[in-house]
Amino acid sequence: MIDALSDYYSRYNSNVHRSVHTLGEEATAAYEASREKVARFVGTKAQNLVFVRGTTEATNLVRFAWGHRSVHKGDLLVTTLMEHHSNIVPWQLLAQATGARLEFVGLTQDGKLDAAKLEALLGQSPKLVAVAHSSNVLGTVNDVADICAKARRAGATTVVDGAQAVPHMPVDVESMGADFYAFSGHKMLGPTGIGGLVGKKEVLEEMEPFHGGGEMIKEVFLDHSTWNDVPYKFEAGTVNIADAIGLGAAVDYLSELGMDRVRRHDVAILKYAIETLQRVKGFRFYGPADPAARAGVLSFNLADIHPHDLATILDEEGIAIRSGHHCAQPLMKWLDIPAASRASFYLYNSPEDVDALKAGLERANEVFKV
Ligand SMILES: Cc1ncc(COP(=O)(O)O)c(C=O)c1O
Repeated sequence: MIDALSDYYSRYNSNVHRSVHTLGEEATAAYEASREKVARFVGTKAQNLVFVRGTTEATNLVRFAWGHRSVHKGDLLVTTLMEHHSNIVPWQLLAQATGARLEFVGLTQDGKLDAAKLEALLGQSPKLVAVAHSSNVLGTVNDVADICAKARRAGATTVVDGAQAVPHMPVDVESMGADFYAFSGHKMLGPTGIGGLVGKKEVLEEMEPFHGGGEMIKEVFLDHSTWNDVPYKFEAGTVNIADAIGLGAAVDYLSELGMDRVRRHDVAILKYAIETLQRVKGFRFYGPADPAARAGVLSFNLADIHPHDLATILDEEGIAIRSGHHCAQPLMKWLDIPAASRASFYLYNSPEDVDALKAGLERANEVFKV
């Protein structure tokens, strides 16, 4: 990925879609080849993939370009208590702007979606159902194909936040049936500042543009403009060429490894981590106990040690954990904790890393006299 970035900047740094010179054509070909690869990787066609900055920009694109035309006063928007703020706040803002109301699907004690509450909300014919494919705190993997099918029968448009799923498991958006699917490159070995929004072609075509400016138009007159075809209608201005090409290289790497293997490694390391870390005094973790029902992350607390203190102690051992509210404050309130620590596992982590984390937690217990 780093070599792909460096190759672009050193050899054919040029803008895309506008120049007839050789460098411009090479950059355009590489950018569009990357779109093909990334689209294939998540099970869709290139024309359905909009390059965005990441999941947050993707949900906000949907909020403006779909929401402002399709959502009206009194409509119901549904999201869940396990969402990252980027799948809550855009819908709050949309509800405030349109007079719609926002309701949340609650959770069961083992950190799964409350199916009865979801059914009840679907019974009220929501306009939108927005749900995480996998939670960035609980690790829970939701059956998004089933949720999308039920939501579609209820007449709702679906937005699936795939930020924690695309890096960790095979994803096929078309068979899932989501209207929109969002993900971020930096969580899947790609560069920062690049991600994807997959949309159904007919839905993307009906939508308003998001940003206005260069390249998203067909023709501009003094009093109006007409829009470029999708996905270009949503890629105004100079796009993030280098990072899109870098994401393509990351996807090549992941595809070569095989996402089935990545997923198997994920489940194995989570199983080992749950078994191993539970032996540490005061350790309690959140989300499903079955590693096969989870992906990637293991959030926990250790006795009453504040996660920031724990992160500082582990940092001295060369162990980087995330600590805080994880951009999921409603979930923290539901769990009745101010914050949590999180080990975020990926394909480069080994059982030895888990052993090192266990030793670090034991040291923290000694320091805090747990
Ligand atoms: C589940 C989930 N959704 C959304 C996001 C937001 O992604 P980004 O910051 O790349 O827009 C994250 C990132 O932390 C996440 O874990």
